[in-house]
Amino acid sequence: MNYRRLGRSGLKVSELSLGSWVTYGNQLDAAAARECMAAAWDRGVNFFDNAEVYAAGRSEELMGETFRKLGWPRLRYIVSTKFFWGISDGPNEKNTLNRKYLLHGIDASLKRLQLDYVDLVFCHRPDPNTPIEETVCAMHDMIARGKALYWGTSEWPADAIRAAWQIADRHHLHKPVMEQPEYNLFHRERVEREYAPLYEEIGLGLTTWSPLASGLLTGKYAKGVPAGSRGTIPRMQFLVERLTDPVRNAAVAKLSGLADELGCTTAQLAIAWCARNAHVSTVITGASRVSQVEENLKAAQVIPKLTPDVMARIDSLVPR
Ligand SMILES: NC(=O)c1ccc[n+]([C@@H]2O[C@H](COP(=O)([O-])OP(=O)(O)OC[C@H]3O[C@@H](n4cnc5c(N)ncnc54)[C@H](OP(=O)(O)O)[C@@H]3O)[C@@H](O)[C@H]2O)c1
Repeated sequence: MNYRRLGRSGLKVSELSLGSWVTYGNQLDAAAARECMAAAWDRGVNFFDNAEVYAAGRSEELMGETFRKLGWPRLRYIVSTKFFWGISDGPNEKNTLNRKYLLHGIDASLKRLQLDYVDLVFCHRPDPNTPIEETVCAMHDMIARGKALYWGTSEWPADAIRAAWQIADRHHLHKPVMEQPEYNLFHRERVEREYAPLYEEIGLGLTTWSPLASGLLTGKYAKGVPAGSRGTIPRMQFLVERLTDPVRNAAVAKLSGLADELGCTTAQLAIAWCARNAHVSTVITGASRVSQVEENLKAAQVIPKLTPDVMARIDSLVPR
């Protein structure tokens, strides 16, 4: 496993990491979540991604139990959480990045995680109803109070990230360091075009999500939705049209041919392709079982095989 700087910060994250959306507290119980995290850790993963909203806080509890049971040195692993949607009702408890919620939310997350601090904290979506100044100050305070080490955004427009950075710069506050966008072979625009100026301008790092487009890029949706997959989960039905799209599945079939030539699986090729982008600090993988963790993390060995020629072939198979 290689480790990359998180943007311009000094923090080193494993180029492949593991997240818990959909899986922990839904598909995986405490023991299975622990097995997946242990398998990732054994293969050099040092970053575990989480959010308060995942399984309404249960995902944080499961990770917290894992950290306690496995007893990893705190200095050796990086854990995140994210705020925006909230997990309870009330005018200041959902869909907000206001100061009151953020400073309350971090305490509740730390309790569920059984930790004194998280390494990374994200504003999970932009909040049009809170001034950016208020959010920037609250994120700064979270860090100044020792509850988080670095802060960033997730799926914010480039202009809003730039505005947050400039406010922090002007007022000598902790600046946003990283963004968490979706990035995979079917979803490239934001990472490759919209954010392009920000890598130099503010040293933005990326922790990217859904490298397999929720499983589509494994090839397993070629003949419909397979049993036991994400596509069968009732609240994930919004994904099914995309997962079973014939045009996309035809492109995945062609990628599978290329993967065969390279001696890897389609999933490994798709994950390695994300990591091949030097602006990506870490590709957050997802897995509903240990065998997927094992398969996916071997993508680290595929990255060097993605020469400019191979990248051009991939572009021709999956047009932008
Ligand atoms: N910031 C955000 O807004 C945001 C949004 C989404 C995700 N994320 C983060 O990014 C992480 C990864 O996202 P993701 O889970 O959508 O990633 P993904 O890689 O696109 O999809 C992962 C899912 O694909 C299936 N899969 C994975 N490896 C496989 C393999 N080798 N063979 C067959 N099936 C395989 C599994 O689902 P099944 O086995 O159930 O089919 C697995 O849960 C999340 O856990 C979360 O931490 C962040």
